[in-house]
Amino acid sequence: MIAVLNGPNLNLLGTRQPEIYGAETLDDVEALCAETAEQLGLAIDFRQTNGEGELVTWVQECRGRAAGIIINPAAYSHTSIALMDALKAVDLPIVEVHISNIHRREEFRHLSYVSKVATGVIAGLGIRGYALALRAMADIVAAEGE
Ligand code: DQA
Repeated sequence: MIAVLNGPNLNLLGTRQPEIYGAETLDDVEALCAETAEQLGLAIDFRQTNGEGELVTWVQECRGRAAGIIINPAAYSHTSIALMDALKAVDLPIVEVHISNIHRREEFRHLSYVSKVATGVIAGLGIRGYALALRAMADIVAAEGE
């Protein structure tokens, strides 16, 4: 199973700054992930929370349950050492996804603590970044099993 975890305000996708994040909703993201995972023969556990503590708990629970984590930590990317520590502790492949290109935006979005522990990062490709992350994760997990 691959965990696909989403942080704060991503429940508002579709209505929240569509000029930055696009018109697709979180349900659309989930449907895209489900379709892509099915093509790849992967099971996913797709979730969203606004709570930092809940996100940390979900990451901790991935240990022994998930083969990898795809995470859009949203604003916690830029602030949460707790989330970074949890991701480091689970010792799993991690692909960080951002819908927008955080490096073209405000200075405070340029630093992601999550990037410091992620296997790889996808940013700026819209919601298709989630599908790309799943493809990369399928390769990473397959290579680990070889
Ligand atoms: C985001 C980028 C973050 O800076 C922002 O706080 C978000 C969404 C993205 O997907 O582009 O909430 O992670």
